[in-house]
Amino acid sequence: MNSKLQSISGFNLPHVELDNPTQRILTSALKKTDRELYIEPETLFWNETYFGLNKVKFFQEATAQKQQKILQIANRDLLEEIYWLEQAGVGYMAKMVALSETCEERLLYGLFAADEASHLATITRFLPHPPVFKEDAFLGYMASLLNSSDKQLLITLVQVVLEGWGMNHYRSLANNSLHISLSNVLKKFLESESRHHALGVTQLRSYDTYSQESLNSIFSALTHFLYMVQIGPQRLLKAIEIGLGELSIQNRVTILEELDTETYSNTRLKLLRSLMIGTVPNSIIQSLEEQGFFKGYSANQSGKNL
Ligand SMILES: [Fe+2]
Ligand SMILES: [Fe+2]
Repeated sequence: MNSKLQSISGFNLPHVELDNPTQRILTSALKKTDRELYIEPETLFWNETYFGLNKVKFFQEATAQKQQKILQIANRDLLEEIYWLEQAGVGYMAKMVALSETCEERLLYGLFAADEASHLATITRFLPHPPVFKEDAFLGYMASLLNSSDKQLLITLVQVVLEGWGMNHYRSLANNSLHISLSNVLKKFLESESRHHALGVTQLRSYDTYSQESLNSIFSALTHFLYMVQIGPQRLLKAIEIGLGELSIQNRVTILEELDTETYSNTRLKLLRSLMIGTVPNSIIQSLEEQGFFKGYSANQSGKNL
C-alpha cells in the first residue's frame, strides 16, 4: 500500500497512546454523552439467526464452544467492517472538501467529514480495541478506489452505491441487533448517511456529460463491487472455517446452499441496481445487465470460486 493510499482510506494510520494530550482534546471535541458505556469483550450483537447459521447443519451440530467462536468472529467482522467504512468515510469526505466546486458543496463535505469522524469514534467504543487492517478484497479495493481523482467515479461508487447500500445495511443491523445501545447508534448514523447519499444523487444528476475514460472506470469499478456481492457471504464462510477447521469444496457448497446464497446475493444485487437507476448512466447499467453482473452466483459456482 503506498503512502497516498494510506492517507485517504486511513486504513494504516497509527493511533496515539492513551495518555497523549491529543486524546483529551479529541474527547472534548467529540462531546461524548455516554462515555461510561462499557461493553463486555465477548458481547454478541447479532445472533445466529441474523447470520442464517440456524439453517447450517455443520453449525447446529458443532459444540457450543465452536458455535460461540464462529458467532464471535462473525460479529467482530460486522463491527470491524463498519469501523473501516467509517474510517474511509472520513478520508473520502475530507478529499471531497478539496475537490468541491462551490462554497455550499465545500460546506456540506466539511460537515459530512465531521459526521463520519463522529461515527468512527462512536463505533470504536463497541470494539475491545481498534482493529488492525488485514487484507480484505472489498476494503482493499475501496482503498485503491479512493485514490482516484475522478469525481464522477468517486461520487458514484462511494455516495450513490456504497452509502445507498450502507443505509440499508445499517438499518438491518440496527433492527436485528441484540444490543439496544448499538441499535440506537446505528439508527442515528442512518440520518446522516441518507444526507450523504442524497448529495451524491443530486450531484450525479447535475452532470450531463461523462468522458469516455470516466464511463470506463465507473463500469470497471462497479463490476468489481458487484462481483463481490455476486459471490455471496464469503466472510461468513471463512468464519465457519476458522471455527470448524478447513472445509472441503463440497462442504462449502452445502453450507452456501443452506445459507441460500443465490437469493441472498440476488436481493442485494436488486437493491444495488435500484440505486443505480436514474443516477448511473444507462449505458453502464445496460452493459452490466448484459454481462450478468446483477445475477447472484449459485452455491455451486460460489463454493468453487474460492
Ligand atoms: Fe458514516
Ligand atoms: Fe457517510
